[in-house]
Amino acid sequence: MSMMWPLASSALTSSLPTRPIPGSYGLPLLGPLKDRLDYFWFQGTETFFRSRMNTHKSTVFRTNMPPTFPFFIGVDPRMVAVLDCASFSTLFDLSVVEKKNVLVGDFMPSLSFTGDTRVVVYLDPTERDHARVKGFCLDLLKRSAKTWVSSFLSNVDAMFDAIELEVAKDGSSNLLVPLQKCIFAFLCKSIIGADPSSSPDVGDNGYVMLDRWLALQLLPTVNAGIIPQPLEEILLHSFAYPFFLVSGDYRKLYELVEKQGREVVERAEAEYGLSQHDAINNILFVLGFNAFGGFSVFFPVLLTTLGRDKTGLRGKLKEEVRRVLKTRGESKPSFESVREMELVRSTVYEALRLNPPVPLQYARARTDFMLQSHDAAFEVRKGELLCGYQPLVMRDPVVFDDPETFVPERFMGGGKELLRYLFWSNGPQTGTPSVENKQCAAKDYVVETACLLVAQIFNRYDEFVCADDNTTVTKLEKATDSGKE
Ligand code: HEM
Repeated sequence: MSMMWPLASSALTSSLPTRPIPGSYGLPLLGPLKDRLDYFWFQGTETFFRSRMNTHKSTVFRTNMPPTFPFFIGVDPRMVAVLDCASFSTLFDLSVVEKKNVLVGDFMPSLSFTGDTRVVVYLDPTERDHARVKGFCLDLLKRSAKTWVSSFLSNVDAMFDAIELEVAKDGSSNLLVPLQKCIFAFLCKSIIGADPSSSPDVGDNGYVMLDRWLALQLLPTVNAGIIPQPLEEILLHSFAYPFFLVSGDYRKLYELVEKQGREVVERAEAEYGLSQHDAINNILFVLGFNAFGGFSVFFPVLLTTLGRDKTGLRGKLKEEVRRVLKTRGESKPSFESVREMELVRSTVYEALRLNPPVPLQYARARTDFMLQSHDAAFEVRKGELLCGYQPLVMRDPVVFDDPETFVPERFMGGGKELLRYLFWSNGPQTGTPSVENKQCAAKDYVVETACLLVAQIFNRYDEFVCADDNTTVTKLEKATDSGKE
């Protein structure tokens, strides 16, 4: 393994051979349609990228990406795929790419979904509002640090109490609903200081409202797998869904932020110069899309990865968690104690490597430049859209040994060097989110929170087992010797 592969930068003088970008977009309408059917149906996302990478013998190539024909007339599906660590890292080099309106590609969900505000994820750092809103988000997270941990742990405990009851009663419990309720309540409390249970409708159904709102925005671009083909192609991937289907939900969530998050909204207005309307829409987006959406994808993967393991990982994690808590005399994990849990942390990093929760990242060439993969340089024209499929990039064999295997210790000791190639946050794990870049504002919070979750499981339980093929908890054995009373 060569650990010191340079990350691509147009500034590097390259000795790599120059190649034209392989691949073509095919005939008008038919090319995009074929690629769309391959992507969603005939091949599936992973094979779609992998087979083209093999055909072209290149990690950089041209391809169409959905959504396409017939009703996405204004959407240009033509992309340049970037599928190794070197070329993918170009997506973070804002001197050569811009990130305006490209969160999910050339397609952009209607602004009605965000109350007619172009929220922070759609803004390029050259736009004045990006610094205002990102600065506000970074500040929001910093100020919420204290409530973050207590609110998270109390909601995690409530979630496990519910799961325990069901396992005792029925022998198993699906963790998705209790987990989403936990994430929703914890984020409302820590981000806006709100208690959603005081508003009955949002308290009971807030997480479902967010699920619906997320689904309608993302359906044209994701493999839903909820109805058989070709119905999925016809009904879910052929047109954008209108906002009015969820406008009632959005209004209720908006009112929750407006009323219960007044202090936070006022700070956005006074210190960051945002209008009240833009502040609320941004808070709702960060809470609902980035935070709720991100955790709702990542935590089930993390929990089932632990619960299905058959290599003895749970025993090792339990030993580490209990040892650190005991030495520190703590009955519950904290940000400080999880910093001492090296295996817990490395396990979280490895779960993020193999399952990056936001699989696709896009960026548009700001200028003509030379794009570098590990083995070649390619001429990219201003305006071309780059598309990175992160699950393949995170299994780049040039960077990661035994890349397909889950190796919980991978990022321990000397393995920490590899953190500069861990990209789940839209930037290297060694980077720092700022108003000048587009890295996830919660890069560190997400990792710490995931570590807290793992630590609290092994603080509470001697054994935690999940089914091999779904998100059901099948066994929970309470701890007999943890610090917990
Ligand atoms: C597992 C959870 C999370 C994941 C996987 C995640 C992932 C990401 C990714 C991939 C991006 C970049 C999107 C792009 O431009 O292509 C991003 C941006 C962002 N995330 Fe996160 N995120 C998570 C949680 C959070 C949380 C908890 C917050 C705040 C409370 C947050 C705030 C933001 C913000 C403000 C941006 C926009 C950054 C900018 O435009 O400069 N994220 N996130």
